[in-house]
Amino acid sequence: MKRVITYGTFDLLHYGHVNLLRRAKEYGDYLIVAISTDEFNWNMKHKKCYFSYEQRKQLVESIRYVDLVIPEESWEQKISDVKEFRIDTFVIGNDWEGKFDFLKEYCDVVYLPRTPEISTTQIKQELKK
Ligand code: CTP
Repeated sequence: MKRVITYGTFDLLHYGHVNLLRRAKEYGDYLIVAISTDEFNWNMKHKKCYFSYEQRKQLVESIRYVDLVIPEESWEQKISDVKEFRIDTFVIGNDWEGKFDFLKEYCDVVYLPRTPEISTTQIKQELKK
């Protein structure tokens, strides 16, 4: 069984997220999504989420391509996650192009093109207008 992992915030779940998860699942049979916790978002990414970690987890878990959701609590956990879950392929959007090449020592690394014209930030900005 081929195992795939991806990481993200997934706040205000939108079709760009679903597209990413659908394409990630095509790389294997089992897709793990590591969702950043509220603490990690606030302390490390300087982002405040609209939905809590538990709410974002529940939404992402209900997507048919997703087999398991785990918390993302630090930048450093990727290597240990890849080892612990025996990951074959790490997938992420190409806004992170090149940033996770250090994982190539442990698994395949794939950067997928982002879906154009949609993001959580954009939704928040549009709603402010
Ligand atoms: N993603 C994508 N296409 C989009 C938006 C996001 O493929 N239009 C991907 C990202 O590249 C990442 C994953 O979805 O691999 C989770 O992204 P996240 O940062 O949670 O979503 P964004 O909408 O980019 O959020 P923000 O605007 O806060 O950066």
